[in-house]
Amino acid sequence: MAKIRASFVCQACGAVAPRWQGKCESCGAWNTIMEETAAAAAVPVAQRSSRKGRSIRLEALSGSNEDAPRVAAGIPEFDRVTGGGFVRGSVLLLGGDPGIGKSTLLIEVAAKLASQGKRTIYVSGEEAIAQIRMRADRLNLSQAPVELASETNVEDIIATLSVGDAPTLVVIDSIQTMWTEAVDSAPGTVTQVRGAAQALLRFAKKSGAAVVLVGHVTKDGQIAGPRVVEHMVDAVLSFEGEGSQQFRILRGLKNRFGPTDEIGVFEMTGSGLAEVQNPSALFLSDRDLGSPGTAVFAGMEGTRPLLVEIQALVAPTALGTPRRAVVGADSSRLSMILAVLEARCGVRLSGHDVYLNVAGGLRIMEPAADLAIAAALVSSLSGAALPQDAVYFGEISLTGAVRAVPQVGARLKEAVKLGFTRAVLPESGKSDGVDGISLVPIAALDRLVADIAASAKRGLRAAAGRESE
Ligand code: TYD
Ligand code: MG
Repeated sequence: MAKIRASFVCQACGAVAPRWQGKCESCGAWNTIMEETAAAAAVPVAQRSSRKGRSIRLEALSGSNEDAPRVAAGIPEFDRVTGGGFVRGSVLLLGGDPGIGKSTLLIEVAAKLASQGKRTIYVSGEEAIAQIRMRADRLNLSQAPVELASETNVEDIIATLSVGDAPTLVVIDSIQTMWTEAVDSAPGTVTQVRGAAQALLRFAKKSGAAVVLVGHVTKDGQIAGPRVVEHMVDAVLSFEGEGSQQFRILRGLKNRFGPTDEIGVFEMTGSGLAEVQNPSALFLSDRDLGSPGTAVFAGMEGTRPLLVEIQALVAPTALGTPRRAVVGADSSRLSMILAVLEARCGVRLSGHDVYLNVAGGLRIMEPAADLAIAAALVSSLSGAALPQDAVYFGEISLTGAVRAVPQVGARLKEAVKLGFTRAVLPESGKSDGVDGISLVPIAALDRLVADIAASAKRGLRAAAGRESE
């Protein structure tokens, strides 16, 4: 009998340490190392199996696959992110903060598929059947033929799923609550989560069912424990949103069978998640018209244009080191834009606190947002509001030049659709103009700064004129 030995496993990345440590040497996380008993690890490799390897048949890269392997859920905002539907035999991990709406989204998807006559099974390790039924009632889905189970033992779940027709979709809510008898560690530990995910992965490949695992996210935004699961699964989606706001954004982080730059936009209503077909209108719905420090960015999320308001507040600082706070954008990007404004355009911001916010709880990753961010910053500093009918996009280089961005036509069309009549954009975008919007091409950032400064002066003169009357 092999000696059962304790090992110390990082709960964030799964690395094994020889003894307890405060910090994981592999991923640098603190206080994540936990003691787990690992019987399997103690068995010498030679004893585990005396079986010789068997030869497997090698296949050609060319050749056709049988039948269309995708099953669309019939919820366009969801299918867009998965790349056109669930892939048979694949495993998808859906991460998100507690309470963001993961269970709600998946019960809606499950109900939609089930009512198309596809066998759909929803296994909850967190809620009792009665609770799931209550939620379904509230969502008006109680008539959908979804099969429910409240269970946490993976062997029992797989045995149940293996009876009858292979299901099309299996939802496991959540992977952190599952445990497998193959592993000795306590439920919730990395070893358990990995063991349970592996068993479900094998089931998916064997049966051809699409399996969705729900994963909770830790405070710092990582899918807790299942960092290790992220590598195993075929796709990782994250469901995001500000708790206080109604918008929920589904984003692909990894997808072996589809794009990772698409987003799906939902709104949490009293009766479940509603799809948002025109997100630009939603994100611009309560714009603060006419106040300095806001600019509308014409962005792209995957194949879809999206207009959002960027808000900046620049105020003299009382601190030795001025504050830079960013919500919804990359803070190193902001630092770069501030540095270019200082060095290339003579805009002094080192004595000012700078706050930047992307309205609506959206997170922007495109460099094309640079120009809109710069416009909002300069507008706030100078106190001159930007024209209400203008959108901004363009990447700023370290030299202060405004660089070309892709998909100019799509951005402009979306702007026209929402009633904008002016676009400030890179010089190269001139040739992609569309009807109904006039273009203000700029080659360098100092031109934008000069324009805003001139309108600030005009504003001052007008105010002085009114006073002297
Ligand atoms: P839930 O799907 O349970 O979140 P998760 O599984 O990610 O933890 O969502 C719970 C939240 O959603 C809860 O705060 C209430 C809200 N909610 C609604 O606003 N409307 C609804 O119809 C439902 C079902 C939930
Ligand atoms: Mg839940």
